[in-house]
Amino acid sequence: MLNVLAVGDVFGEPGCAFVKKHLRRIIRQENADLTIVNAENASLGSGTDPQDAQLLFDAGADVLTGGNHSFRKYSAFGMLEENDCVLRPLNFPPGSPGKGWCIVPVKSGLRALVISVCGQVFMDPVDSPFFAVERLLDEQKGRFDFAICDLHAEATSEKQVFAHRFDGRIKIIFGTHTHVPTADERLTALGGAYITDIGMCGGEESVIGLTYSSVESRYMQNIRRKGVAESKNIALNGAVFTVNESTLCVTAVKRIKYTEGDLL
Ligand SMILES: [Fe+2]
Repeated sequence: MLNVLAVGDVFGEPGCAFVKKHLRRIIRQENADLTIVNAENASLGSGTDPQDAQLLFDAGADVLTGGNHSFRKYSAFGMLEENDCVLRPLNFPPGSPGKGWCIVPVKSGLRALVISVCGQVFMDPVDSPFFAVERLLDEQKGRFDFAICDLHAEATSEKQVFAHRFDGRIKIIFGTHTHVPTADERLTALGGAYITDIGMCGGEESVIGLTYSSVESRYMQNIRRKGVAESKNIALNGAVFTVNESTLCVTAVKRIKYTEGDLL
């Protein structure tokens, strides 16, 4: 059995500090063979700079996935070009720095294709995730044993149609971006697993990772203040997928949530 750990959007300095302190232990506890971390909110809640990417790798991440904020830090461009395991969404415009996929060796000589892709509904404009992923699967056919996709998207319906479309061809499909975990994890008809959103690593009592006081005025007075990352009561949310190495089917999917109290 092979375990894939997916960690939801790591939010700002508090999220990074939690990952730095605890991810190794969580990896051990969950027997993870491959750890994928969504990093698009790691640096000040928007984007990923090279220092924070290194922090996440040092903490045990094998692949960093992206999202709509992937290009917020210009300092990320070099790293996106040079490090195959730092991904930005596959369906960003042609010519964008970096790439949206990588193939990583895992247990038993298996090769996992990891894809990062963005949704289109209620999101900044990007190309169709459906056609971009179809093209990629065609191009990489025979070069990988099973595929994993972080679908960074807002709309549940778009995520569900994506899961249906790629069922069996992408064995693990998990959503990110809303920062709120959903309770719909399931094994699929064709041997895969799906969950609409795995949540985030950030303050539990927050507005998707930001303090109430820094966000409230947007809604109460139409005044947009600089967001401040909530630093109290951090929880790391994610999911663990168990893959049978012979059949390459997913046999289990489990939501996880760790707080400081769970790790004393
Ligand atoms: Fe996002």
